[in-house]
Amino acid sequence: MNSSAPIGIFDSGVGGISVLKTALALLPKERFVYYGDSAHAPYGTRPEEEVRVLARNVTEFLLKKGCKAIVIACNTATCAAAQALREENKNLIIVGMEPALKLAHDTCPEGTIAVLATPLSLSSAKYRALYEKYGEHSVSVPCAGLMELVEKGETDSAEVTEYLSEKLGPFMTDGSLSAVVLGCTHYVFLKDAVKRVVGDRVRVLDGNEGTVRQLMRRLNEQGLLNEGALADLPRCELNTSGSEEDLAVMKMLLEKP
Ligand code: DGL
Repeated sequence: MNSSAPIGIFDSGVGGISVLKTALALLPKERFVYYGDSAHAPYGTRPEEEVRVLARNVTEFLLKKGCKAIVIACNTATCAAAQALREENKNLIIVGMEPALKLAHDTCPEGTIAVLATPLSLSSAKYRALYEKYGEHSVSVPCAGLMELVEKGETDSAEVTEYLSEKLGPFMTDGSLSAVVLGCTHYVFLKDAVKRVVGDRVRVLDGNEGTVRQLMRRLNEQGLLNEGALADLPRCELNTSGSEEDLAVMKMLLEKP
């Protein structure tokens, strides 16, 4: 493996762009190849076996691009496929994601923690194990249909607010909500909308920075952090299995401050 090779990042669609943005900021000397599998989105309402096959196909695409490491910028695909991908690619750095429940548990000891994630993530064995350890004050909130709004480029529409109010409203009545965990990379683009619904007192957390820091550690351990100059090469290449519109949404989200 060559340290000047790019890092592959993928998601079921445009959600992983939120991870790519964090990676671009924290790893200024690295190049990235992004793949959004929008043609097969959502992953979160499919059976695990199907997501495993889709994640394997995307990983092959990124390896053909010469990537030195893979980031599964999708909580759902991590639950369904990370273990299999690691077994199939023994020497490859594969960094996955999980809802930031440990962070919420450690930083918000009082009150209720609401974990928003896809139905597949929340029903997976991986999430159950995390919940056993850190879930004592948490409630799992499956959000089927929410990623579809972000795929359309909606991060602040009336429909988004209505959806979030319906899901989070029940926790607002007694004032016990202390944190909301955004357990799907698409939802990270809804952070401001969530904050407006739950108010300033409630913390809104995601796992993006933790994931990128884990990637940095793994690359460093293997001597794969790029030290050379980037020359005139572009910092990232965007790919989609979807349409021109999907690509336009990706670009819009990447440029969004
Ligand atoms: N962005 C994905 C995640 O982090 C899931 C969206 C989906 O395909 O359902 O879980």
